[in-house]
Amino acid sequence: METATHPSTQSNTNPQEDFLPLLGTDYVEFYVGNAKQAAYYYQSAWGYELVAYAGPETGVKDRVSYVLQQGKIRLILTASLFPDGFISDHVKKHGDGVRVLALWVDDAAKALEETSKRGAKVHEGLQVKSDEFGEVRTASIHTYGDTIHTFVERKNYRGVFMPGYQAAQSKVPVKSVGLKFVDHCVGNVGWGEMNTWVKFYEDVLGFRVIISFDDQDISTEYSALMSKVVANGNEFVKFPINEPAKGKKRSQIEEYLDFYHGSGVQHIAVATDNIMETVAELRSRGVDFLEVPGTYYDDLEARVGKIEEDMDELRKLNILVDRDDEGYLLQLFTRPVEDRPTLFYEIIQRRGARAFGKGNFKALFEAIEREQERRGTL
Ligand code: FE2
Repeated sequence: METATHPSTQSNTNPQEDFLPLLGTDYVEFYVGNAKQAAYYYQSAWGYELVAYAGPETGVKDRVSYVLQQGKIRLILTASLFPDGFISDHVKKHGDGVRVLALWVDDAAKALEETSKRGAKVHEGLQVKSDEFGEVRTASIHTYGDTIHTFVERKNYRGVFMPGYQAAQSKVPVKSVGLKFVDHCVGNVGWGEMNTWVKFYEDVLGFRVIISFDDQDISTEYSALMSKVVANGNEFVKFPINEPAKGKKRSQIEEYLDFYHGSGVQHIAVATDNIMETVAELRSRGVDFLEVPGTYYDDLEARVGKIEEDMDELRKLNILVDRDDEGYLLQLFTRPVEDRPTLFYEIIQRRGARAFGKGNFKALFEAIEREQERRGTL
């Protein structure tokens, strides 16, 4: 689901060696308590269009699912219609959260075969679903916590999403905020589990580590964490994996694990070509962002050098900047978008940089700690 303007389209591996070629993120599915209201939030605040729906009216008896799209980003919001069953159990345990990180492939059967022979735990074998618009093939494997990866092959499908769903249109006014594609999805895993999951992505999915941070890099007075970023061959799919590290007080990762009751998706980074416009628009619609102190901007130019954006505008919108060898990036993080302090979003605009904003970690983590303090969970 990436465009030709994606920042890192050059492949770093020999395609012959890539046993799991990925075309991008196909969709992210959330299990939520009330999909109708969540869909309203993502349409009116975030500018996603409703494109498809499944539920009792379409022959699906146990759940409702709203499929929302903006640019190449697709979200599915699914809620159970009954108290028992996996969806309800997931929501009871985790609150609203990500169940599926779906990966777009050319050959779902091969993706399943290659990953399962390398040790993937299969959640659902190959499914062939068809309707008047053609055929979609899927297969799913487990990853950390209750999260799964679904391989989606849609080369023989012309419909709006996939068989089992009906096309639908937003009934509320929807105005895009300029979101283009999923840049990366971050997982939080338990104490000492980061390397296990990094190895899983290396061995089972053929990813490689592109960046790693230790607790020296990512530590403030209280919070500490370790992180490694794994990516597939063309870097269309990037998964940073975090684990908590020992600090003076409770790390933000521990807070997540306590409230999510296990490992899960911490944040989804969505890319824009114009972060100033995107963030100004989201703010005007009530989306709530972390705040860094004004002092962050005092020495910004000394840290990141000349940038195209106006510093006063950046300061006004509280947008963060970081530079690596290849360029710079602009980013900003929302507060958690669920009742529990679990999942949040990152808005990111890359101007050459391929990294993840290490220079902002300290300012950000101090901002998160101020929030933890307010929640009494530091
Ligand atoms: Fe991120």
